[in-house]
Amino acid sequence: MGRPGIQMWTWKLCVFLSWMCVGQAVAGPQYMVAIPAILESGAETKFCASLLEPNETLEMSVTLMSKEANTTLMKKTYCQDFHTCTEFKVPLVQDEVVQNFVVEVRGDTFYSKEVRKVKIKVYRAMTFIQTDKPIYLPGQTVQFRVITLDSQLRPVNQLVSV
Ligand SMILES: *[C@@H]1O[C@H](CO)[C@@H](O)[C@H](O)[C@H]1NC(C)=O
Ligand SMILES: *[C@@H]1O[C@H](CO)[C@@H](O)[C@H](O)[C@H]1NC(C)=O
Repeated sequence: MGRPGIQMWTWKLCVFLSWMCVGQAVAGPQYMVAIPAILESGAETKFCASLLEPNETLEMSVTLMSKEANTTLMKKTYCQDFHTCTEFKVPLVQDEVVQNFVVEVRGDTFYSKEVRKVKIKVYRAMTFIQTDKPIYLPGQTVQFRVITLDSQLRPVNQLVSV
């Protein structure tokens, strides 16, 4: 029973957030954006962005860039501190891809761009088959149930061929 615990732990370590934080030593705008380093293909997820001490009107844009497409996840103009979390749907991918998560903050006197890699991967559903007894005598009827769970341990609504 030790194994699943260990795997869960490694998985949790992998999901540690990738942070970006840009600060100026002197007073001036600072911002921070947090997103999980590994995203699940097709899942709803969110990132959070904070902007502190803007000394002018700033436009912050957050984009997910791949070879195929650029998706703007957020584009907002602010002239005071803000903290916001934005939900978005992770693009569907085959297997596993790495995309660029790009944050740009721009004003008349301030410009900053940060790029971080995020991994998008497919989490396969797991199917469990449970029988009503561990051992059967000849002629006994075997009763069983089948359940398929997704990576969040939610039942998956799909048809299984008999
Ligand atoms: C805002 O602060 C930055 C960093 O200190 C500075 O370079 C810039 O000139 C300031 N902008 C304004 C409009 O005061
Ligand atoms: C995405 O944006 C970058 C930078 O603006 C650009 O170089 C690239 O061609 C764009 N890619 C697509 C697929 O539109």
